[in-house]
Amino acid sequence: MEDFKPGLEGIIATDTNVSYLDVDQEEIVIRGYDLIELADKKTFPEVAYLVINGKLPNNKEIQEFEKVLLDDSAFPEDAYKVLELCPDSSMLMDAIRTGISFLAGYHSESDLMDTSEKSNFTKGIRLIADVAILTANSHRILNGLKPVRPDSSKSFSENFITMITGKTPSDKEVEIFDKILTCYIEHEMPNSTFAARIIGSTLSDIYGAFVGAIASLKGPLHGGANEAAMHMLLDIKSKGGHKIADDYVMNRLNNKERIMGFGHRVYMKKYDPRAFFLKDYIAELAPNITDGEELHKIYKIVEEVMAREKGLYPNTDYPIALLFYLLEIPIPLYTPIFFASRTAGLVAHVIEQHNNNRLFRPRVLYTGPRGLKL
Ligand SMILES: CC(C)(COP(=O)(O)OP(=O)(O)OC[C@H]1O[C@@H](n2cnc3c(N)ncnc32)[C@H](O)[C@@H]1OP(=O)(O)O)[C@@H](O)C(=O)NCCC(=O)NCCS
Repeated sequence: MEDFKPGLEGIIATDTNVSYLDVDQEEIVIRGYDLIELADKKTFPEVAYLVINGKLPNNKEIQEFEKVLLDDSAFPEDAYKVLELCPDSSMLMDAIRTGISFLAGYHSESDLMDTSEKSNFTKGIRLIADVAILTANSHRILNGLKPVRPDSSKSFSENFITMITGKTPSDKEVEIFDKILTCYIEHEMPNSTFAARIIGSTLSDIYGAFVGAIASLKGPLHGGANEAAMHMLLDIKSKGGHKIADDYVMNRLNNKERIMGFGHRVYMKKYDPRAFFLKDYIAELAPNITDGEELHKIYKIVEEVMAREKGLYPNTDYPIALLFYLLEIPIPLYTPIFFASRTAGLVAHVIEQHNNNRLFRPRVLYTGPRGLKL
């Protein structure tokens, strides 16, 4: 009974050398480095390489790695058709999830079920590339637009944002988008990573682990919070703007509603270091769009009220929601982009799980009846 912790709060589920949230030091440790320093000084592909390989790449290694990430020659034409076949009402996360399942079929059974590090690495890198293609094109195709293929003359982040918006981004926009991807890349043991490891622990394949992880990350208590946070900021704007922001939040709190983008199981009463790092970029992008400055004002008021009333601070989804909006990224893509960046972390965790596997199989605290007679 004393072992029972609802939501497994505080329970150590596995050992890992991928990452660790050091709450006391306010540091997200990624393979020994501080994530914020990495986001500040390194690119997303460099950090993805680090997350998966445990070391930073040299020039040759990063060039080869980025080439694979931008190569769509292994992305079958029929995968675009799968997106076309998804009903128009499909949520993008579901269309991408379906695409991942479909792509698993291109491996022979023995290759798919090979859980060796070499095989997981090869399939995993392909998955990072494929999920980016599926993400950008799920939105395009479900909105009747033609797919955009990767352009290997661009960097991974420039290519990704171009595939999404169909526009040429400025250097500043690419830089900020890349930092967002890096901030999302890996975060110890969130629900989706746990889901991937649980699935991997049956010696099921990396595609199956990804499908479970994306279903988990879709939920509004996890990755879905960035979309919900943006809808709230827009709702406040449409109902009167920054002047009513304080009352709006108070109303929701009085109704026992949650404010999305705030709170975190591990940080809870502290500022998420990623949110702290990213918030300063909002001012740089706010002039990008007509209502940018007003949304920034609303953003700051909501943050103040949450600190004042609940002692709760933004998690990374809060600034990223507004940054994505200022980058003119359609809201239904916010959670899919989060998943696309997290694929690097997932590859590392599936490799680690398969390299040192023990089946996850916990017990329960039974609260049902006993001794019933037929
Ligand atoms: C992330 C989250 C699910 C963690 O929840 P948890 O560890 O299970 O904590 P609980 O749900 O038990 O919340 C603890 C307390 O904080 C409050 N709380 C937590 N997050 C809150 C939020 N975003 N808005 C309002 N109240 C919140 C709860 O109401 C609860 O208060 P109570 O003790 O008075 O009932 C939670 O903070 C949340 O729902 N946040 C909003 C969704 C979000 O942004 N998710 C992205 C996470 S990266």
